[in-house]
Amino acid sequence: MALENIPDSVASAELPETSTIITATGSEWWRSAVIYQIYPRSFADSDGNGVGDLPGITHRLPALAELGVDAIWLSPFFKSPQKDAGYDVSDYCDVDPLFGTLNDFDKLLETAHGLGLKVIADMVPNHTSDQHEWFQAALAAPEGSPERDRYMFRDGKGPKGDIMPNNWESVFGGPMWERIINPDGTPGQWYLHIFDKSQPDLNWENPWVREKFFDILRFWLDRGVDGFRVDVAHGMIKEAGLPDYTPPEEGASMGGPVGSDVIHGITDPESIPDPPYWGQPGVHDIWRGWHTVLAEYEGDRVLCAEAWVDPLSKVALWVRPDEMSQAFNFAYMFAAWKAKPLRRVIKESIEAFSAVGAPSTWVLSNHDVVRHASRLALTKDSPQGAGIGPKTHGKPDPVLGLRRARAATSLMLALPGSSYLYQGEELGLPEDMELPDNARQDPTWFRTNGEKYGRDGCRVPIPWEADKPSYGFNRSGKSWLPQPQDWAPYARDAQEGVPGSTLELYKSALALRSQHRLGTGSLEWLHDYGKKVVAFRNGDVTVITNLGKVAVELPVGDILLSSEPIVGGALPTDTTVWIRS
Ligand code: NOJ
Repeated sequence: MALENIPDSVASAELPETSTIITATGSEWWRSAVIYQIYPRSFADSDGNGVGDLPGITHRLPALAELGVDAIWLSPFFKSPQKDAGYDVSDYCDVDPLFGTLNDFDKLLETAHGLGLKVIADMVPNHTSDQHEWFQAALAAPEGSPERDRYMFRDGKGPKGDIMPNNWESVFGGPMWERIINPDGTPGQWYLHIFDKSQPDLNWENPWVREKFFDILRFWLDRGVDGFRVDVAHGMIKEAGLPDYTPPEEGASMGGPVGSDVIHGITDPESIPDPPYWGQPGVHDIWRGWHTVLAEYEGDRVLCAEAWVDPLSKVALWVRPDEMSQAFNFAYMFAAWKAKPLRRVIKESIEAFSAVGAPSTWVLSNHDVVRHASRLALTKDSPQGAGIGPKTHGKPDPVLGLRRARAATSLMLALPGSSYLYQGEELGLPEDMELPDNARQDPTWFRTNGEKYGRDGCRVPIPWEADKPSYGFNRSGKSWLPQPQDWAPYARDAQEGVPGSTLELYKSALALRSQHRLGTGSLEWLHDYGKKVVAFRNGDVTVITNLGKVAVELPVGDILLSSEPIVGGALPTDTTVWIRS
């Protein structure tokens, strides 16, 4: 077998100059935590109506404790008309009947804490549902009233006011403005909605809004939640005057200019101005206020920002010591499956976050993107928010995708900092690419008239038991999104105790990560394995991922973990190994 273990000058030149990168330290649990995202609609359904719920989650929590994660993050379960799967909240202090009751939530929390799992709720402050009483009051109140000032109402342009206040386009497609009808039946003002028209943006310049959210945070902190993931944390303040803006490129997904050119270093992200609705400096004041509220509570409560901004040094501004604790690392999520960009994003992440005393986070999948067991085998750049479906050209090869996903996760879980997992990735689930059009529910699909598939393919209820109706998601066999016919091999019970299964790989990786304290370690680059690898030492563990086509000779040592079988002392392509050194 050809070996590729000889470094060449090109390789060395491409590798980062500094060979050790020190991670910021601190005693808080979240600095090194592995946090498992539960998408409540699709995790476990106790009442058999086809939509997952809180009692279903509680029932299945032991499986997550056994997996070895430290915390769960629950996507929204608050009262909501479910126009955007719960990211359209109509009451922040109650549970939607679809998911259960406040009592069910308390039981979930108690069970999780009893199992040693922290619980993070998903706060959605950028917008409410149009059914929220604040918005209904705003519609009923006259122009210029305090009720209207809680949202982003503006007069239309032109003599009849029928031209939108500016040219902004919604993240889900179509315009970012909707015109209202006044109580007397005449056309009225327009309101801004970065997402669906059922999700009007709040006016965060208004102190009343800020105060209300302090109360909402305290409501959940008093109940005992360990922190919040904060939705659209980069979008809450808009540039004064709301100037026209046209995005530079397609594919910006949930936010700023995260695009392939940026990721591959072709475009310097510093040169791209922030859109007038993302990453405005005024947001930081809001986070300082939230930080103060969390600091009133014991136990290192966490705030994690969903902030789609570039570059990483700008994301790091969200996690300065008096702001949030962590921010999702979307640059890492979308790094190409190539050694050089991966090394680069790892280096830049740790450096950028360490510079402000924060840990880096790492993430490969969530409920908004194509699952990484499919995305990593796409031949073109990831379509991100556009999704993939039956008519997508160049469908990813599932075998290659899973192999790369296992290697990618094994690499990620060895990195110092905090890692996020998305439900089902521990089973190796691919994106469901065959969902029929009439089953789709994502507003992206509707607002683009079916031009973009959206995110349903990563949201299909997960399989627990191979031979049960709906693979054990519930007992009735109903499922709000149809499950593929061929998911039995992915079911948890089909993988439990099976050597080499993806579930067992995750369990081993999580146990070893904790045993060797990889989450709190530092990273020393290893330059001896050629340019097609990512290789580093974290504490007493050497980690090598081979992204090249030829096998790489391994150093002597005990193999602790390998994402694929190792034969003859050489690391095959698309494989990660952990070696005790
Ligand atoms: C980001 C969430 O992750 C996504 O699912 C949601 O649609 C938007 N924010 C709007 O809340």
